[in-house]
Amino acid sequence: MHEPTRTAVIYYSATGNVHRLAEAAIEGARKAGSETRLRKVRELAPDHAISANDSWNAHVEATTDVSTAQLDDLTWADVVIFGAPTRYGNVASQFQQFLDLTGPVWAEGKLANKVYTAFTSSQTPHGGQESTLLSLYTTFYHWGGIVVPPGFTDPVQFRSGNPYGASHVSGGGSFPGDTELEAARYQAHRAVDIATALAAGFAAPAAH
Ligand SMILES: Cc1cc2nc3c(=O)[nH]c(=O)nc-3n(C[C@H](O)[C@H](O)[C@H](O)COP(=O)(O)O)c2cc1C
Repeated sequence: MHEPTRTAVIYYSATGNVHRLAEAAIEGARKAGSETRLRKVRELAPDHAISANDSWNAHVEATTDVSTAQLDDLTWADVVIFGAPTRYGNVASQFQQFLDLTGPVWAEGKLANKVYTAFTSSQTPHGGQESTLLSLYTTFYHWGGIVVPPGFTDPVQFRSGNPYGASHVSGGGSFPGDTELEAARYQAHRAVDIATALAAGFAAPAAH
C-alpha cells in the first residue's frame, strides 16, 4: 500500500456551485493527510448553449486551469469523490458520459475496493438531491466500491441535514455557504479516514 491515501475529486459544474463543494472536498481530504487531484469532467454542451448563459460562460472561463478527468484519475485513487448537479432529479449528462466511458477499467476490476462518496447541488430543497446521490451510489455498487456516506456522524450533518452527501440548494441565488462547505470537507475527511484505516487493516498481519 502506498502512502499517503490518494483522493480524486471528480465533478461537473455548469455555474459554480458544485465546483465550490469540490474545492471544499479537496480541503477536507488534504486535512486528513491525503494526496489529492481535483478534476472536472469534459464539457459536452454546445458553445451556443454555454454562451447564452452568462453564469455558465463565466464559470467555464474561470475553471480553464482545472484538468479534465481521465480514467487514470479513478485508477490512481484510493478514495473517489464525485460531485454533480441535479438535472431533473438525476446526474448531469456530462457526468454520466464520464461514467459511461469507464467500461475498460471496470472490466479489469480496477474500480473495485475503493472508497466512494458523492455530493450535489440543486435548485430547490426537494428537487432531487437524494435521487441524484443514490444514482451515483448505484454505480458504485456495480464497481464493487465501498460506499461511505456521511450519515449523521458529525454535528455538521445535523446542520446540513443530508446524510446521503454534502449538498447545496442554489435557488436562493447564493453559492454554498459555511455549513455546506464544512459538510463537504467533513465528508471527504471521513472518506479518507476510512480508506486509510482499511488500508492499514489489509496490511496488518492476520491475528491467527
Ligand atoms: C437542465 C437542468 C435541469 C435541472 N433539474 C433540476 C432538478 O430536477 N431539481 C433541482 O432542484 N434543480 C435542477 N436544476 C438546477 C441545478 O441543479 C442547480 O442550479 C445546481 O445548483 C447547479 O449546480 P452548478 O452551479 O454546479 O452547475 C436543473 C438545471 C438544469 C440546467
